[in-house]
Amino acid sequence: MLRERTDDIRRLQVIHPPKPIAAEVTIPPPMRKGLVSLEEILCRRRSVREFADRPLTDEQIGQLLWAAQGITDPQGLRTAPSAGALYALETYMATANGFYKYIPESHRMERQSVEDLRRALYLAAWEQESVLGAAAVFVIVAIYSRLAEKYGEERSVRYAHLEAGHAAQNLLLQAAALGLASVPVGAFRDGQVQTALSLPWEQTPLYLIPVGAAT
Ligand SMILES: Cc1cc2nc3c(=O)[nH]c(=O)nc-3n(C[C@H](O)[C@H](O)[C@H](O)COP(=O)(O)O)c2cc1C
Repeated sequence: MLRERTDDIRRLQVIHPPKPIAAEVTIPPPMRKGLVSLEEILCRRRSVREFADRPLTDEQIGQLLWAAQGITDPQGLRTAPSAGALYALETYMATANGFYKYIPESHRMERQSVEDLRRALYLAAWEQESVLGAAAVFVIVAIYSRLAEKYGEERSVRYAHLEAGHAAQNLLLQAAALGLASVPVGAFRDGQVQTALSLPWEQTPLYLIPVGAAT
């Protein structure tokens, strides 16, 4: 009996080989209190395209991802508003150590690749030096289909883009509050970014946000 079951399982594995499981990466919990006022951060935020050659700390990475899309409410609501609370975005990050997806529900990252994909992003972004020189390039993508049932196709696109603006601004303001340099980058070839990052076809890249230590 046991032998039969084992054979069955083996047969199934041949037909459906197990998918490689993306490695979960823990990040420190976010700070919920800062030392600088919102007004000061609004004054301080500036697009900066040159960075010091230093990696971000785990604390900074966790804080930036949380600012973009972190959960701040027991019902799962997030730092950035979302039409119908349907959350049409995903946030990724490319660093020297690999390519990661943020999982808001557990405030963790899931490693998608161990490769440094920043050069491929730089090429896709018309060779903008800010993309090559940043310690981390955050990538905000939209999944329009999450909104389509409620809002229809046209409105879904508009709402996803508005939501991306909210998430991006949160990240940029958080970077400023941490004394980091950052710039929002919208000029890139969508298809080339999608290919470079092996994104699922339904994910449309909207923003690249290079972040690094200030020079
Ligand atoms: C939708 C959008 C797309 C942008 N794309 C780029 C870009 O591809 N490369 C870049 O260096 N800056 C880009 N920027 C940044 C602007 O150049 C910058 O915000 C503007 O010069 C004002 O400067 P400030 O951000 O310091 O206030 C973009 C900004 C926005 C809002």
